[in-house]
Amino acid sequence: MTTSPRKRFVIVGTGSRSRMYLDALAKKYPETSELVGLCDQNPGRLAFTTEVYAKHFPDIPTYPAEEFERMIKETRPDEVIVTTRDSTHDEYIVRAMELGCNAITEKPMTTDAEKCQRILDAEKKTGRRCRVTFNYRYSPPRTQVKDLLMSGVIGDVLAVDFQWLLDTYHGADYFRRWHRNKENSGGLLVHKSTHHFDLVNWWLSSVPEEVYATGQRRFATPEMADRLGLTNRGERCWDCPEKERCTFKLDLAGNKKLKNLYLNNEQHDGYFRDRCIFAPDIDIEDSMNVLVHYRNQVKLNYSLHVFSAWEGYQIAFHGTKGRIEHKCNETVYISGDGSVQGELKKEGTHTRVFPLRETPYEVELWEAKGGHGGGDDPLLNDLFGKPTEDPYLRAADHRSGAYSILCGIAGNASIASGRSVRIDDLVSGLTEPDYPAMPDPSAPLPMPPQIK
Ligand SMILES: NC(=O)c1ccc[n+]([C@@H]2O[C@H](COP(=O)([O-])OP(=O)(O)OC[C@H]3O[C@@H](n4cnc5c(N)ncnc54)[C@H](O)[C@@H]3O)[C@@H](O)[C@H]2O)c1
Repeated sequence: MTTSPRKRFVIVGTGSRSRMYLDALAKKYPETSELVGLCDQNPGRLAFTTEVYAKHFPDIPTYPAEEFERMIKETRPDEVIVTTRDSTHDEYIVRAMELGCNAITEKPMTTDAEKCQRILDAEKKTGRRCRVTFNYRYSPPRTQVKDLLMSGVIGDVLAVDFQWLLDTYHGADYFRRWHRNKENSGGLLVHKSTHHFDLVNWWLSSVPEEVYATGQRRFATPEMADRLGLTNRGERCWDCPEKERCTFKLDLAGNKKLKNLYLNNEQHDGYFRDRCIFAPDIDIEDSMNVLVHYRNQVKLNYSLHVFSAWEGYQIAFHGTKGRIEHKCNETVYISGDGSVQGELKKEGTHTRVFPLRETPYEVELWEAKGGHGGGDDPLLNDLFGKPTEDPYLRAADHRSGAYSILCGIAGNASIASGRSVRIDDLVSGLTEPDYPAMPDPSAPLPMPPQIK
C-alpha cells in the first residue's frame, strides 16, 4: 500500500465559515490536500454538510464533538482546522496539539487570557504549531500597504489613526447569535478587532504593550428599539409580533442557505440564528475607542463603530517622511447567506501617499477579488497549495494570534476597570512574532524640502 503524499485535514465546526475551507479542499486543492474527517456538536449541521459535499467527499467519516479524540485516532490528520464558536477554539487547539497534530484556527485564536495561556503552554510542551488564519493580511490592497511601509516611503511610523465601521446590516448580525455575549466571543474588541489589531501589529512589525479603552452599547438596546417604535418585541425574528415593521429582521425561512444551515437544525442545540438585536441580555459593546502603546513607541488611536452608514475602514500612518492614507469601502453581507463576505468596493477604496511638503499621489491599487478584500483565496493557497516564499511573512502563528487578541482582552479589562492594562500582565512566555524588517528608526533623515 502506498501512503498518500497529500496533507490530511479534519475540520471541527461545520457552520458558515467552514464552507470556505470545504470548498477549497473539495474543488481547488485535491492534489495537495485531503479532507479526512468532520466533527460538530450539532448532528443536523454535520449531516447537512456531508450531503452538500457528497460528490467530493462521498465516504467522509463524521464525529460528534465528544468523539473528537476518536476522530483524530481513526483519521490520523496532519492538521486540525478549528471553525467552532470562538470560546471553544482553545479546547480543540490544545487537544489537537496534544494528540500530535498541528492546528489551524479561525480568528480569534481564543477569547480570554487564561485560554490564551493554555494555548501558549501547549505549543511549548508539544512542539506542534498553531496557525491563525488572518485572511486580511493577504488581501492585496492591505499587503500593498505593508509593502509601502517596508519601502520606507514615509520613513518610520510615529503614530496611527484607525477607524473601522460595520454597517447596520453586517454589524447587526453580531447581535443576533452567540457573538452577542462576551463569554462566547470576547466581545467585538476580541472577535472583530483581532483582525484589525493583527493588521496594525503586522503593518508596524511590532507588538502592543499597553492598552486603554472605553466602550458602550448605544444602538442595540431595548431603549433604542422603543424609540424606533418596536415596543412589542419577541425573543427572535421568527415569531416576533413586530417582524413586519422591523427592518433589522432576519428571515431565516426566506433564505435557503440560512434555512439549511441554521433553522433546520435548531432543534438539536437551541441555536437561534435570528435573535432580537435589541435584547436586554446582550453584553457586548457597539462602540469602542482604544489607545495602544507599541513596543516601537508608535501610538495607535483605534475605534470600532457598529450600526454605521457604511461598511469598511480608514487608516492613516503618520511617518517621519510623510503620511499614508488608506481607505476601504466594503460590500455588505450576512455571514452564511451565500453572498461574498466583505468584497472591496472599487469606488470607495484608495491608498494615498503624502510626502512631507511635496505633492500627494494616489497609488495604483493591487488587484483584489473575492471574500474579505480578496484575502481568502491567497490564504487558502498558503494553507492547501504548494508553499511559496513570502517577503511579507503573512502566515501567522500562535504569537500573532495571541498579540492580536490580547489587545482586545486588555481593552475589555480596561473598559471594566477604567485603567490602562499592560499586555505583559495578562500572559507569560509570549515572544514577538516573526515580522518583516522595517525602516531603521535611527537612520539619518533627509531635510524636508522647503515649501514652494
Ligand atoms: N476570518 C474571517 O473573516 C471569519 C469570518 C467568519 C467567521 N470566522 C470565525 O469562524 C468561526 C466560525 O464562525 P461561523 O460564522 O461559522 O459560526 P457558526 O455558528 O455558523 O458555526 C460554528 C459551528 O461550530 C459548531 N460548534 C460550536 N461549538 C462547538 C463545540 N464545542 N464543538 C464542536 N462544534 C461546535 C456549531 O454547531 C456550528 O456548526 C468563528 O470563530 C468565527 O469567528 C472568521
